[in-house]
Amino acid sequence: MCGIVGVLGDHEAAPIVVEALKRLEYRGYDSAGIATVNNGRLDRRRAVGKLVNLSDLLVHEPLAGKAAIGHTRWATHGAPSVTNAHPHQAGPVAVVHNGIIENFRELRAELKAAGLSFVTETDTETVALLTQHHMAQGLSAREAAERTLGRLEGAFALCFLFEGEDDLLIAARKGSPLAIGHGEGEMFVGSDAIALAPMTSEITYLEEGDWAIITRTSLEIRDAAGQLANRAKKTIQIDASRVEKSGYKHFMAKEIAEQPTVLGEAVDHYISKDGKGVSFAAEGLDFTQFDRITMVACGTAFYACLTAKYWFEQLARLPVEVDIASEFRYREPPVAPRTLAIFVSQSGETADTLAALRYMEGKAAKILSVVNVPESSIARESDVALPILAGIEVGVASTKAFTCQLNVLALLALNAAHARGEISDAALGDHLAALRNLPGLMNHALGASDTIEALSRELAKAQDILFLGRGAMYPIALEGALKLKEISYIHAEGYASGELKHGPIALIDENVPVIVMAPRDALFDKTVSNMQEVMARGGKVLLITDAEGAKQAGDDVWRSVILPEIPDLLAPILYAIPAQLLAYHTAVAKGTDVDQPRNLAKSVTVE
Ligand code: F6R
Repeated sequence: MCGIVGVLGDHEAAPIVVEALKRLEYRGYDSAGIATVNNGRLDRRRAVGKLVNLSDLLVHEPLAGKAAIGHTRWATHGAPSVTNAHPHQAGPVAVVHNGIIENFRELRAELKAAGLSFVTETDTETVALLTQHHMAQGLSAREAAERTLGRLEGAFALCFLFEGEDDLLIAARKGSPLAIGHGEGEMFVGSDAIALAPMTSEITYLEEGDWAIITRTSLEIRDAAGQLANRAKKTIQIDASRVEKSGYKHFMAKEIAEQPTVLGEAVDHYISKDGKGVSFAAEGLDFTQFDRITMVACGTAFYACLTAKYWFEQLARLPVEVDIASEFRYREPPVAPRTLAIFVSQSGETADTLAALRYMEGKAAKILSVVNVPESSIARESDVALPILAGIEVGVASTKAFTCQLNVLALLALNAAHARGEISDAALGDHLAALRNLPGLMNHALGASDTIEALSRELAKAQDILFLGRGAMYPIALEGALKLKEISYIHAEGYASGELKHGPIALIDENVPVIVMAPRDALFDKTVSNMQEVMARGGKVLLITDAEGAKQAGDDVWRSVILPEIPDLLAPILYAIPAQLLAYHTAVAKGTDVDQPRNLAKSVTVE
């Protein structure tokens, strides 16, 4: 959460920082701010709310200077306000921060006792004041920052700027990612490489515990022990068009529409040239070495894991345990030998998932991550990292990353089933042929957009909506409900269809639409029976199924969305699309902020 930027440039820095912050706004949009040094003088501007408010402020009150730091905030300590907005300044020091300083209360008390006073409610102000305090004792900027960093506990990415220092930035990383960009006589700092993409593609990633002393012509990196560290400079390829809306009204709409293309490319990437096999041997994955799987993730990625549990268990006969990362990390579960641990994360930076992965280090036979960002912390700390190849996902609500996670997990389950002798060559070939066919079916599903848009205008009037599914469609019901509530702010819950009569059916009346996800699989008849129970109590059912399913379900349903027929294995991937479209069109009908819903951020780097 929070995005940070630093620039030591050759031109006016404020516009460059604003551009970079635009690319980091997915990390939070509670407030934004910039500080510059101009002829030695430190100055700053901050505004509450989205970055556009800061841009407007800068029109009326411009900031000169070629050295700058910037921040876009997802509030943790202290409400969103100008006072609590970064950069935080204490005398000659300004600092931007992503993460949480866990010992800030102790440091605060110490600084108060030393006579310093605080003006904000944030943990970050402690960092600025502590550094100021050290400088007041005669230390240089660099020495003061080093001493401050030695006192900080928690997770952070920090960037410091100093009065009187037009050619100095100090950056530090512990727990939160930080990239340093190399230009021609210019240097940059960013929470990720995407932020720096227009300025440079030459990136050095700081490692855990590193801190860096940066000038326009030099970069000195020290590791946690204070030793000089040699970190590789990488050239990162980022396709700028993937971070544009390309004519769509929202990133989410673009990302939903991109799914057939990106999933098709990912399928081709993973399956053999003749289309008949899938192997992860090159990555060192041999499913005959594992007796069980533990899967850990958060949010939408957790639902991808829940779906994959059905696949691994049914196809490969491998028992799977799935857990939410924030629970798993403190549960201290015993880990049996021959366990494969799988961590799924779009960003690869989710703090809880990363902590869960670290808990498994040395315990699991192998640590596998399924990620969208190959340079992320989760990818780098795994034994094996498989990219989902979704391309950059900007909309806060995950869409194409979800279906691309499911694709990689389905391929893994098929590989496991084949390697363990549970399915024949021919059966594997059939499943893979179906997967290659899937992008075409996804295009058909996207064709239901207009129908869904029309009925979403009705759904937008509801206060509560239920999603039902059975088997591998149960996690899709959960995902449909999550997507709807996060962007439309309508209360929604997903239930296993068979569980409804154990309590939630009491909620049913004509005001509670019930969305039933029912591909014509082995459980279709059972799902339809549960749907009848809802309709018998006056419930208003929106049925998502294929043409034959709609015929069999009868005329009493309120509305239907018709999808193409689909093999059972792949139904969850296809049915994710109408769930995403329902959430999207309902949010648009309600006029909410689709790409940046309130209170949320895309990359959750705090626990
Ligand atoms: C919901 C959503 C979140 C994320 C969750 C995990 O649309 O996007 O629930 O899935 O925060 O994030 P990653 O996958 O980056 O670990």
